[in-house]
Formats: sequence, C-alpha cells, structure tokens
Amino acid sequence: MFWTVNTFVVLTMASSGNFTATSSRFSARLCGSGSTCVEFTIYNLTRQDSGSVICTVQGDFSPKTAQLTVQESGSVGILGGTQTVKQDEQVEFQCEAIGWFPSATISWTVNGYTVNSSLLNTTDVASGDAYNSTSVYKFQAVRNSTVTCLATVLTLPNPKSSSVQLVVIPKPTDWTVLIAIVVSFSSFALVVLLIIGIIFCYKRRKEKQPTYQEEMMRQRTQSQLSNRPTPQKQGHVNQVFTIDGQTSLPSSGRSDSGFFQNNGLPLYGQATTENNQRNGYNGIELGFPKHRHVTIV
Ligand SMILES: *[C@@H]1O[C@H](CO)[C@@H](O)[C@H](O)[C@H]1NC(C)=O
Ligand SMILES: *[C@@H]1O[C@H](CO)[C@@H](O)[C@H](O)[C@H]1NC(C)=O
Ligand SMILES: *[C@@H]1O[C@H](CO)[C@@H](O)[C@H](O)[C@H]1NC(C)=O
Ligand SMILES: *[C@@H]1O[C@H](CO)[C@@H](O)[C@H](O)[C@H]1NC(C)=O
Ligand SMILES: *[C@@H]1O[C@H](CO)[C@@H](O)[C@H](O)[C@H]1NC(C)=O
Ligand SMILES: *[C@@H]1O[C@H](CO)[C@@H](O)[C@H](O)[C@H]1NC(C)=O
Repeated sequence: MFWTVNTFVVLTMASSGNFTATSSRFSARLCGSGSTCVEFTIYNLTRQDSGSVICTVQGDFSPKTAQLTVQESGSVGILGGTQTVKQDEQVEFQCEAIGWFPSATISWTVNGYTVNSSLLNTTDVASGDAYNSTSVYKFQAVRNSTVTCLATVLTLPNPKSSSVQLVVIPKPTDWTVLIAIVVSFSSFALVVLLIIGIIFCYKRRKEKQPTYQEEMMRQRTQSQLSNRPTPQKQGHVNQVFTIDGQTSLPSSGRSDSGFFQNNGLPLYGQATTENNQRNGYNGIELGFPKHRHVTIV
C-alpha cells in the first residue's frame, strides 16, 4: 500500500504491517482483523499538507482519494487594553486576529453575553497565505464590564480569546440633578409655607382688629376716667374766678379787673370733636360733657 500526500508518496506499507515513511510525521498501522484495514496518520500538520491524500494498493485496485484541508489558528488580541471612560460616552474596542487560515470568525461578549453581530464591523485582509482580521465594536459605556473578543475557525475545538476591562466613571451630573431637585422642591415648600404664614397672620390680625363698638367702649371708658377729678391733674386755682350770682357783676359781663368770665355752662365736645374727627369718630363723645372754662386776658 502507498500513501500519497499532496502528489508525493510519503509511506509504503507491507501486508505484514511493516512500513517505511519519508518523515517521522507519517505513520500507518493495521486495524481490524486481518489486512482489511489500514490507518494512516500525519503528525504535526502544516498548511503545505493541504491537498489530496491518496491510498494506492498494489494490484488491480483503483486508488482512493480524500481531500485534506489544513486550517491555521493565529493570535487574537484587543488593542489598547483596559479603557476608562465616562458614563454614557461612546467607547470603541478593536480586536485583531493575526495569521489565521481561513479568516477567523470573530465574536464579542460583554460580561459573558454575546454581542449581536449587527453591531460589529469586521474586516479581513489576506496576509501571505493567511488572513488578518480586524473587528470594531462601538457602544455606549453604561457599567463596568469585561469585554472579550473571540476568534475561531471551524476546526478549532475552543475559540481563542482576549479580554480587557471597561472601567466606567459614574456621571457626576447625577448629583447635580439630585441637588437641583432637592433645592427646587425645598424652595417650593418654603414659598408655600410663606404663603400659609402670611394668610395666617392676616387672619389673626383681622380678628384682633377692634370693631367699631369695641372702640367706642374703649373711648368711653377712657373719657370717664379722665373726667374723674384727680387732685394731681387739676390746674392752679383761678383766683379771679367767681361763680354766677355770687358777685355783683352781671353775668358774662366785664369784671372790674377786666376779665371775662363765663357763665359756667358746660361746653359740649368742642375740643374733643376736633380730635375725634382725626380719628374718624366724629362726635362720639358729644353726650359726655367736658367743662372748659375759657379765660381771656
Ligand atoms: C516486520 O516487523 C517485525 C517486527 O515488528 C519484524 O520482526 C519483521 O522482520 C519485519 N519484516 C520485514 C520484512 O521487515
Ligand atoms: C511534532 O512537533 C513537535 C514540536 O514541534 C516535536 O517535538 C515532535 O517530535 C513532533 N512530532 C513528530 C511525530 O514529528
Ligand atoms: C441582531 O440585531 C438585528 C437588527 O438589529 C435583529 O434583527 C436580530 O434579531 C438581532 N439578533 C439577535 C440574536 O438578537
Ligand atoms: C467598517 O470599517 C471600515 C474601515 O474600518 C469602514 O470603511 C466601513 O465603512 C465600516 N463599515 C461600517 C458598516 O461601519
Ligand atoms: C497582518 O498582521 C501582521 C502582524 O500585525 C502584520 O505584520 C502584517 O503585515 C499584516 N498583514 C496585512 C496584509 O496587513
Ligand atoms: C467601576 O469601577 C471603578 C473601580 O474599579 C469604580 O470607581 C466605578 O465607580 C465603577 N463604575 C461604575 C459605573 O460602577
């Protein structure tokens, strides 16, 4: 049996199972019962091994052909590493997969959740016999996250990945908004309190304001008190004053000493009227006599 890889015969096997190979990378062994099965193995595959693998048996047998495709995984990494941004800012991560064949399939996860591929912009460029891929993921920074870029090809059992941290600085405006709300609410409350206070004071004042009758009573009491003769308040005794009928002079006539004397009749409210007119209580005290003795020199 002859094994041909990519047009070169690399292994020859006898029916006993003994074989000779061009490289230690190629190996074969009998499998199953008798000589019905041969297993051919290539170790340390390279991209150059890709192509047809043909098994030819000496004799009247047609060769059997299979296709070998070798995929290659390269490196993957997020450029720039950890990023620190302000909250709600746009943040951009760039992932590079270098030297993959075929081009790597790139996906992203944020905190373990897969990102919808419609949000990604991935471009592949051929680099020699492999590919370089660049994937850009832009999004709004909301919270602290672990951003992971994964690159894979079909035959890779587990994707190769690279992770970085996104540190989000919380918005300081959150506080200013809070303070603004508190200030506006408290000032509103203050205004309301002020209005309530003004209304309260106004009402109380109105209640306390004396009514017309109350004022009359007060004035009456005051005038009665002032009419009560108190020796301290009395003036000096008018020596020339005489009571009607006790002198020889005719009443309200001119006396010897040249003084007019009044007839002792009470004058009603002349003096007080003037005062009370100012107070708006015109003539209230007219019923209460006040004795005024006018002496003119
Ligand atoms: C085949 O291998 C066996 C040991 O595995 C050896 O004894 C035998 O001589 C070999 N035959 C040939 C033809 O080389
Ligand atoms: C495969 O390659 C590794 C290192 O590249 C080497 O150590 C190993 O011996 C190789 N295996 C074979 C069968 O050539
Ligand atoms: C990805 O986004 C597209 C459009 O925004 C939407 O139609 C699709 O359902 C999304 N896929 C998943 C898995 O959410
Ligand atoms: C993807 O990125 C490339 C260059 O990086 C740009 O030219 C292209 O317009 C982008 N496509 C989208 C859909 O953003
Ligand atoms: C692919 O990436 C490698 C490493 O960054 C670089 O040396 C090479 O030039 C790139 N190939 C292309 C076609 O950009
Ligand atoms: C992100 O983490 C940093 C410290 O690692 C912390 O200061 C910051 O507040 C965090 N951001 C959010 C949005 O929780």
